[in-house]
Amino acid sequence: MNVVDQIMAVMEAAFEPHWGEKWSRGQIADSLLIPGTDAIVIDGEGSDITDRQGTAAGFVLSRHAAGEEELLLIAVHPQHRRKGLGRTLIEMLKERARARQVAHIFLQMRSNNPAARLYEATGFTAIGMRKAYYRTADGGRLDAITFATSI
Ligand SMILES: CC(C)(COP(=O)(O)OP(=O)(O)OC[C@H]1O[C@@H](n2cnc3c(N)ncnc32)[C@H](O)[C@@H]1OP(=O)(O)O)[C@@H](O)C(=O)NCCC(=O)NCCS
Repeated sequence: MNVVDQIMAVMEAAFEPHWGEKWSRGQIADSLLIPGTDAIVIDGEGSDITDRQGTAAGFVLSRHAAGEEELLLIAVHPQHRRKGLGRTLIEMLKERARARQVAHIFLQMRSNNPAARLYEATGFTAIGMRKAYYRTADGGRLDAITFATSI
């Protein structure tokens, strides 16, 4: 399976529509054409199956430029949560980022996302907030929190 199909298989199941965070197939395909964009797909055992055979259980999408990496999107299929796969994806991303001489990884998320617990458990610290940055499906506003980690 190609990487876009693998990512979409997880994406369709992983994101609650209410928050409007799901990316379309076109957005994923286009993002992967931008230099520095990188995807890692793992199966339910945590093995890297990017662009290979296997059933995708989680993915992380990132972009690196000028010595910095941005984690764009991370998701684990609901049937595979709380087994350490999210942690595995972040550790894999850190390893790759280190290999390309990146010093920091950044990410931004809506303020009420439980993913914050995963980021804190993997060494990220909240470093900033953008007030009312995101708009929800029902027109509400949510703050954006920026997290960073040195690697
Ligand atoms: C966030 C997400 C990727 C976590 O994946 P996961 O495989 O369940 O995470 P892990 O099992 O590796 O969790 C590692 C640690 O993070 C914390 N954690 C992860 N998810 C948590 C949750 N929903 N609530 C509280 N703590 C959580 C825990 O400390 C956990 O360790 P523990 O299970 O030993 O207590 C997954 O819930 C998901 O896909 N969410 C929907 C997509 C999303 O919102 N992505 C982030 C924004 S792009």
